[in-house]
Amino acid sequence: MNLPLVGAPHDRLDGPAKVTGRATYAADFSPAGLVHAVMVTSEIGNGRIVRIDDAETRRQDGVLAVLTHENARRMHPEGHGFAFALMLLQDDRIRYDRQPIAVVVAESFEQATYAASLLRTTYESEPPITRIEDSADRYTPEEIFDEPADVTRGNPDRAFAGAPVQFKATYSTPVEHHNPIEPSATIAEWEGERLTVHDSTQGVTNARKRLATVFGIPVSNVRVISPFLGGGFGCKGAVWSHVALAAMAARAVGRPVKLVLTRPQMFGSIGYRPRTIQSIALGADRDGRLSCIMHDVLSQTSTFDEFVEPSALVTKMLYAAKNVRTTHTLARVNAATPTFMRAPGEATGSFALESAMDELAYAVDIDPIELRLRNYAERDQSENKPFSSKSLRECYRIGAEKFGWSERDPKPRSMRNGRMLVGMGMATATYPTNRAAASAVVRMNEDGSVVVRSGTQDLGTGSYTVYAQVAAETLDIPIERVRLELGDTDLPPAPLSAGSMTAASVGSAVYEAASALRERLRKGEKAPIEARADAKPQEHERYSKHAFGAQFVRVEVDPDLGEVRVRRMVGAFAAGRILNAKTARSQYLGGMLWGIGMALHEVTRFDERTARIVTANLADYLVPVHADAPDMEAYIVEEEDPHVNPIGVKGIGEIGITGVAAAIANAVYHATGIRVRDLPIACEKLLR
Ligand code: MOS
Repeated sequence: MNLPLVGAPHDRLDGPAKVTGRATYAADFSPAGLVHAVMVTSEIGNGRIVRIDDAETRRQDGVLAVLTHENARRMHPEGHGFAFALMLLQDDRIRYDRQPIAVVVAESFEQATYAASLLRTTYESEPPITRIEDSADRYTPEEIFDEPADVTRGNPDRAFAGAPVQFKATYSTPVEHHNPIEPSATIAEWEGERLTVHDSTQGVTNARKRLATVFGIPVSNVRVISPFLGGGFGCKGAVWSHVALAAMAARAVGRPVKLVLTRPQMFGSIGYRPRTIQSIALGADRDGRLSCIMHDVLSQTSTFDEFVEPSALVTKMLYAAKNVRTTHTLARVNAATPTFMRAPGEATGSFALESAMDELAYAVDIDPIELRLRNYAERDQSENKPFSSKSLRECYRIGAEKFGWSERDPKPRSMRNGRMLVGMGMATATYPTNRAAASAVVRMNEDGSVVVRSGTQDLGTGSYTVYAQVAAETLDIPIERVRLELGDTDLPPAPLSAGSMTAASVGSAVYEAASALRERLRKGEKAPIEARADAKPQEHERYSKHAFGAQFVRVEVDPDLGEVRVRRMVGAFAAGRILNAKTARSQYLGGMLWGIGMALHEVTRFDERTARIVTANLADYLVPVHADAPDMEAYIVEEEDPHVNPIGVKGIGEIGITGVAAAIANAVYHATGIRVRDLPIACEKLLR
């Protein structure tokens, strides 16, 4: 292999295009004859539409079409599951707040917006259930990511009953919404039975298939283009209603149609992180050695589709214990279908598990890092396989050293800075290493320049840059000679940019194609020349594959106001080969910062009378801002993994947020002596 273990910290190749406005995001395209659609969304969360009065709307200047359930064409939104549900004006039912109920198309955006504001909808509201604890409609999902929802090893109940130290607690996390800077946006254009879509999507290949199904046309008739995204974080993974609605509207008016979601609509039909209630039970001896871990998760899904937040998957593998039980139960509520949100499962699950480990550390009076080392899993006991590599000990050591963990006086409420209570907390970070089939073509032109082509997409994470690095290093040419073509279904197919798997999947394809090209050049073939790789993961894995890390947090808490300030964060992560030290650090820091939001700020609140979301804007839905960003450091712990995939990459998109909420909760406990088990850690929970 001719890639360095830690790749050069190249600036983003797409940076200049982005800062000069030359980068074309989905809504930036202007096909000839473009008209504008505005989606109208419901004002209740449960009930039915009695009547939509569109007379005034239709009378307005520039209005070309008003689509409602009364006139929209019948579609094929089959293939439910995994939050791919589409609401395409097919009936009068309102199933969640801000469900699309109409689309108004006009010559200009302003005309469409004004005309849409004149629609008068009458509803018949039904009392909703918004809280999972109130829902009697509960069930065990058949599977989660091809794994069983409930898993047991050993006899956890018996082990718990016999354990000298027994700890039990319940943790909960709220509904949270993704808010990428770029809202979801689609431009759709028909040419006969051929559909072209510019979409802000985490998966052009997937969107193409889905649109072909919904419109009942061959996959080859659909082209999806997505060269740049302003973030996704999971909410642009599925194909949601607005994408198909833009295409329906384009068909209705016979012109290209642009549809951009408003910020409040970003709280409607594009998924969110579901609420969880998680019970943890730990049985240990007096030295803190775990005999038993039980993790039972209740999370929400919608009344019409299924998404499982897999919070307990992490618990099967993270610590050594002979007796383990993990369960996942779903409760149906009157809300939209949830979806993946950065580190789905691990972000919420690690809050519960890593808070519980901290509580156990106090119960047995052992340092939290030492407790984790005593329960270090040398192999994956759940899969009964060795890890492909695991450098978690190094992460603890390096993180603790950089952070200054040894200065911590373990006694709660013992450290102060003036009148502020000081707390130090830590937690383990972890995320599985995923990979899916991906294809790439690497072409060398006569002048020696190289083009890399793959139907993947750059969420803003740095894909353009790292694949150029892989190609340049493999072919031993300067990176300036490499050009990337991504984000188009005319290119070789690639998977969803999700599950932190894109670099491992597409990077392997680029590496294999570039290696094949190099080999042929070495044998005397001349440019122009191109090589294609269809790279696939092995079917039977001999190893358990995960990235690991350690999070350290220092907080100050105002003893009178309960206000929590995160002062310092240190993360140390081992995720195999790092393709670019700079973009990797940005991913880690971004994840850690989002963890502050999860711990302290973010919560979507529902009006329990109507199931209406009352925080659907960035004034009421709080996210961390610069003033909340502490002194932050992310360290790359070097790790060589020969088993994980051809380029040794584990993926870094999601691990950065895992463990952060627990590390903050643990630091807050250390500062105040108050354990908050329900996120977010709002100041009123600390005033006692
Ligand atoms: Mo990521 S939440 O798996 O798109």
